[in-house]
Amino acid sequence: MISTRKNEYKLITAKPFAPNLGAEIYGVDLSKPVPDAQFEEVKRAFWEYQVLFFKEQNEISPGQHVDFGKRFGTLHTHPAAPTMDGHPEVFEIHATKDSKIANGEFWHSDVSCDEEPPLGTMLQIHITPPCGGDTMFSNMYSAYETLSQPLKEMLDGLTALHESEHIYKGRYTDRGKDDSEIYTPEAIHPVIRTHPDTGRKALFVNRTFTTKINELSKDESDSVLELLFKHAEHIDHQIRFRWTRNDMAFWDNRCCMHRAIWDYWPAERKGRRVTIKGDRPK
Ligand code: SIN
Repeated sequence: MISTRKNEYKLITAKPFAPNLGAEIYGVDLSKPVPDAQFEEVKRAFWEYQVLFFKEQNEISPGQHVDFGKRFGTLHTHPAAPTMDGHPEVFEIHATKDSKIANGEFWHSDVSCDEEPPLGTMLQIHITPPCGGDTMFSNMYSAYETLSQPLKEMLDGLTALHESEHIYKGRYTDRGKDDSEIYTPEAIHPVIRTHPDTGRKALFVNRTFTTKINELSKDESDSVLELLFKHAEHIDHQIRFRWTRNDMAFWDNRCCMHRAIWDYWPAERKGRRVTIKGDRPK
């Protein structure tokens, strides 16, 4: 287990975003290769704060975005979303007045339906609406830690089904991707997972993909999942990030959920994201 002691950074400035989650990162220029020693501090801040907001950035190219993502591991390719020409690892986030949906409108951990869901996601927003378009994040360590002891004991060892057909089918047709081209994975994961880098326990269910707790009856599972979703979505675990053009957010899907707010229609919001492959939750 790593030890994370707050504010011991020499090569970056990490300014806590809120007491419960997140930090703004200054002093890192993502348009240039990040030196190894500085990268080590970024990684430590990622473990410590769970969501980093890289401030005062220029727009980086898809290639630079991919290169920075690869510093954390192999990149993940989304099973269903359209990808960028020439950059299959890049997922364009784009909502306009003609959009029927905007991405990520319900609480989720990215692609938790994969056998090995993404470790983290890096999103840079290049076109921000005049107001709104915030992203919310919820701390799943604190969601776990604030459960009562009897509930923790009940959940220990339970597994849940994460499905995607109900989410991905038809979702990207207005962006040129028909259902015959997409893959709709499903996977079974522990309800409580242990983060492989920090050793901390986190609740790992979300309203978008998690459909059943396997060891419970359907009625029991529906009720327990609703209780856990509401608990994990409680305001005490949340932050709400207001984007400035070219901010880059990097969140840890293993211990956070997020939700994008589509309150800016008919305005436009556009950006690019890459995700880094994770391991099988344990
Ligand atoms: C997502 O990746 O789920 C979308 C996040 C956002 O657009 O803020």
